[in-house]
Amino acid sequence: MATKGDFFRESLKNIKTVGTFTRSSKYVCRKMVSQVDFSSARTIVELGAGDGVITRHILKAMAPEARLLSFEVLPKMCEALEQIEDERFTIVQDSAENIAEQLAVRNLPAADAVISAIPFVAFSDDLSYRIVRAVRANMKVGAPFVQLHYSLLKKKMYEELFGEVKVLFVPLNVPPAFVLVSHR
Ligand SMILES: C[S@@+](CC[C@H](N)C(=O)[O-])C[C@H]1O[C@@H](n2cnc3c(N)ncnc32)[C@H](O)[C@@H]1O
Repeated sequence: MATKGDFFRESLKNIKTVGTFTRSSKYVCRKMVSQVDFSSARTIVELGAGDGVITRHILKAMAPEARLLSFEVLPKMCEALEQIEDERFTIVQDSAENIAEQLAVRNLPAADAVISAIPFVAFSDDLSYRIVRAVRANMKVGAPFVQLHYSLLKKKMYEELFGEVKVLFVPLNVPPAFVLVSHR
């Protein structure tokens, strides 16, 4: 899956899992990545990597000794992620709610930062809370949880689970996007 057209076709087949028909713009990628302090982050977790548009920005910003674990459930998206060659990068073809097991089998500590594009608005509250609770439990205290959304419908969930939530608006995206930033 190398093109925007491939992403579109895969989204059409799996719209409830992908939640959109377009990849994130470079403006969204930059805004999300700018919320992480890469000078100290060593274990970075990405949720809902898709075909890797945000992944590549994260890898560019990461320290040489840092590790990136990117969760993605769709096999076709994972095939596209396999084209990224970087020793610091690991694709995890699994649901983000299994983060504890996936960190443990790799002897990795809790995450220093989480960047997520999982489309929680398309999910039930039950599933959304289950995933975000599992992820929060595997983040270091103070670590940022940076989440992409196209509305503020789920903002309450982050307020309940993390407390304060910062909202950043990125108009240059289809559709215009919000980046919600919380801290454990
Ligand atoms: C909106 S797309 C984002 C793709 C890419 N990160 C971007 O910003 O363009 C959301 C991605 O989350 C993945 N996804 C959905 N549920 C997931 C889950 N429980 N765990 C991990 N990834 C999931 C979907 O397959 C899809 O590729």
